[in-house]
Amino acid sequence: MNDADRPELPARVGAMPRRAWLATAAAAALAAGAWPASRAAAGDLITRAIPSSGEALPVVGLGSWITFNVGNDPAARDSSAEVVRAFFAAGGRMIDSSPMYGSSQPTIGHALAKLKHPAALFSAEKVWIGDVAGGAAQMEASRLHWGVTRFDLMQVHNLLAWREHLPRLFEMKAAGRLRYVGITTSEGRRHAEIENVMRTQPIDFVQISYNLLDREVEQRILPLAQERRIAVIVNRPFREGALLRSLRGRPLPGWAAEIGCDGWAQAALKFAVSHPAVTCAIPATRQVAHVRQNMGAARGPLPDAALRARMAADVAAM
Ligand SMILES: NC(=O)c1ccc[n+]([C@@H]2O[C@H](COP(=O)([O-])OP(=O)(O)OC[C@H]3O[C@@H](n4cnc5c(N)ncnc54)[C@H](OP(=O)(O)O)[C@@H]3O)[C@@H](O)[C@H]2O)c1
Repeated sequence: MNDADRPELPARVGAMPRRAWLATAAAAALAAGAWPASRAAAGDLITRAIPSSGEALPVVGLGSWITFNVGNDPAARDSSAEVVRAFFAAGGRMIDSSPMYGSSQPTIGHALAKLKHPAALFSAEKVWIGDVAGGAAQMEASRLHWGVTRFDLMQVHNLLAWREHLPRLFEMKAAGRLRYVGITTSEGRRHAEIENVMRTQPIDFVQISYNLLDREVEQRILPLAQERRIAVIVNRPFREGALLRSLRGRPLPGWAAEIGCDGWAQAALKFAVSHPAVTCAIPATRQVAHVRQNMGAARGPLPDAALRARMAADVAAM
């Protein structure tokens, strides 16, 4: 494995001096054909630094579209709260939502209140409305649903009225009312416009779709994010579950064991987060067992460039 093949080192290498860590890690990596994660032996989570600040985030977060849109049903809300509890218990930080996601925001608020507002939370919200005045009211309503004093990250959802919203969000960041500003898209939509925003605006984050089958962002968006030092959030890592359903029942190839995957979900997540431009992926789930499995992808070795290519080719051929 040469440097060009090697995924960017995770932000932390623990208490061990970097050089010593590299020496021991390299031997294990070369033996396994994969680059080991930071402090994998100690079982610590793999983190990546947000380029604009250096703050470390675990490479797996939690989405909320559909899965947390459970209405007012108390049992369903408690069940979602258990997913959030398991997420934090496994070391999770970023939860992503949007006013577009039905009752997901109050569901998250219910869970956070029940868990007494875990300090680890990294709240990622969106503004999704055509005008700035409406945006201010919407963000405040979102904040009240979550029960937080401010959001860590506010993203312009699907680029809607980004020219109007972004100046306002930068002002809020400067005033300490937000910590980071971003934009989102999904399913390959409006990539040229995303690139334009990435080139011209001082955003901290971009959120895009990326998975074993949808790899268009590898061509321009991910390299541009590295060049412009913009953090990348991966949505739809499982194609809204369709990718995992299509792989169900298919035996895991031998490489899965090399990178410590217990199933296709972890393989798909390790593929997404091992791209050197990616900061984190945000799979959504209603199930405690699944959130634990997904967080397991933030531990152990990650595939190197050669293995990533094999993974994508194998899945494309299935
Ligand atoms: N434009 C945007 O800003 C945008 C667009 C799309 C998505 N997003 C964000 O990205 C998040 C993720 O995308 P997504 O929700 O569309 O799709 P996804 O995370 O790719 O897939 C979610 C589906 O995968 C299943 N799943 C999760 N973990 C699993 C596991 N370990 N094993 C088997 N099945 C598993 C879930 O079912 P179970 O409940 O049965 O686990 C759920 O149906 C969204 O929730 C949202 O926060 C943003």
